[in-house]
Amino acid sequence: MLCRRVCIKLKKYFISGQNHSKYSVISSVLEKAKIGEVAEIKGWVKSLRIQKDHIFADVNDGSCAQKLQILIPKHLKTDALTYGSSVHIAGKLSKSPRGQLELLAENVTVLGKCVVLDGYPFNPRTAHPPEYVRQYLHLRSRTNYFSAILRVRNALTRHIHEYFASKNYLHINTPILTSNDCEGAGEVFKVQPENDETIKVMMQEGCNRDTVYFGTKTYLTVSGQLHLESICRGMGNVYTLGPTFRAENSRSRLHLSEFYMLEAEIAFCESILKLQDVIEDLLKYLFVETWNTNESDMFLIDKNNRAPKWTNKDFITLTYDEARNILDKKGLISTEEGINKEQELALVDYCKVPVFVTQWPKDLKSFYMKESPLDSTKVDALDLLAPITGEIVGGSLREDNYDKLKRKLPSEQLNWYLELRKFGNIPTGGFGLGLERIMQVLCNISNIKDTLPFPRWPHNCDM
Ligand code: 4AD
Ligand code: MG
Repeated sequence: MLCRRVCIKLKKYFISGQNHSKYSVISSVLEKAKIGEVAEIKGWVKSLRIQKDHIFADVNDGSCAQKLQILIPKHLKTDALTYGSSVHIAGKLSKSPRGQLELLAENVTVLGKCVVLDGYPFNPRTAHPPEYVRQYLHLRSRTNYFSAILRVRNALTRHIHEYFASKNYLHINTPILTSNDCEGAGEVFKVQPENDETIKVMMQEGCNRDTVYFGTKTYLTVSGQLHLESICRGMGNVYTLGPTFRAENSRSRLHLSEFYMLEAEIAFCESILKLQDVIEDLLKYLFVETWNTNESDMFLIDKNNRAPKWTNKDFITLTYDEARNILDKKGLISTEEGINKEQELALVDYCKVPVFVTQWPKDLKSFYMKESPLDSTKVDALDLLAPITGEIVGGSLREDNYDKLKRKLPSEQLNWYLELRKFGNIPTGGFGLGLERIMQVLCNISNIKDTLPFPRWPHNCDM
């Protein structure tokens, strides 16, 4: 208990607004604060235990996985102080009988009430299944599970930028609106104005119904690759991390209509092995760093998850034909070409580490991929397969032969892309990595919809 004089002093201190407490974020309280120092925090009540003389409240403010225990003298309790309410608490740090840092509250203000009976969908000390929580996207960040996921995603993004900055790659913002369907799979969302008057005026100005506004058919990007290639052929190594959109009619646990893709384009890259080295090094770095910085979050998401053993092993490379032979021996091959999800996961299971599949049949891959010098029916492409998701990365060397590219160019709209090979051309290679799929592998999350704040998939774009 604090003596009365100290209490009055503290009260004056907080009320006069002179509180220059160094600690207003729970993560820094837990990391740096010392017993006896003052702290003032704002956050949400995660649980309450009411005892005879005082109340214990566990408060979290989103800054870390841990909660700060608050000891509240009973006379400061108000009815509004409930599970889920938002609070502003000032006090002095002390040690609980169990040796835990706790905040002895001097001032408690409830900023926002939360009444479970009014329809708040979560209950204290209850592990709500992800499918249940997903029904309340707007309140999802209130759950321990989902807020841990968002902190991991934040750290992962930071580590991506750290990695590329340390290797001198330039970060490029590629456009979201584009006139190309990079992958050529017809999975683009079309973009047009909603306003009828704008459409009418644009059509009078010479657009037709399909090209209204920009004068060309315009889509949400499926990949920033072609734009990256343009900058790479003038400035060297580049990368981008941004939203990409795919109008696939897939409701699977691995597909989103809007997802974030990390794409890199490597200048003067003549060998698929170089590309593989970059991908392998990057992924190992991201996994090790994120486990280092966010271990508590990782355990909060899945207490059985462990840092993968493959971060200090070599990834395995199989050509497409070798992979198909392995599947054949396992009785998993069908007459259909390609490697389906079940087969991808079987290959990873067989190899026990992530697997690069290279040397793909030309017909299965996109127009921009470089014809293999070893076999003209193949392209120098790769897919990286990982546990949980199967394909996690797709990449290739780019066709840099002007005539070969011209023959495969899907549309005149892409003449600018061809022209990159005409002036000061260089060999390049690159890859794209779905951020949400890394999150799935990293955190052991089965459904991709739980890896980002506001998932979009067919029939679902509620908020
Ligand atoms: O294999 P993809 O289609 O490759 C490209 O888009 C290349 N242009 C990238 C490049 O070379 N710069 O997609 C790359 C990755 C996939 O391996 C997967 O991780 C992710 O993007 N991805 C998706 N993630 C979530 N939902 C979807 N619908 C996805 N489609 C692809
Ligand atoms: Mg792919």
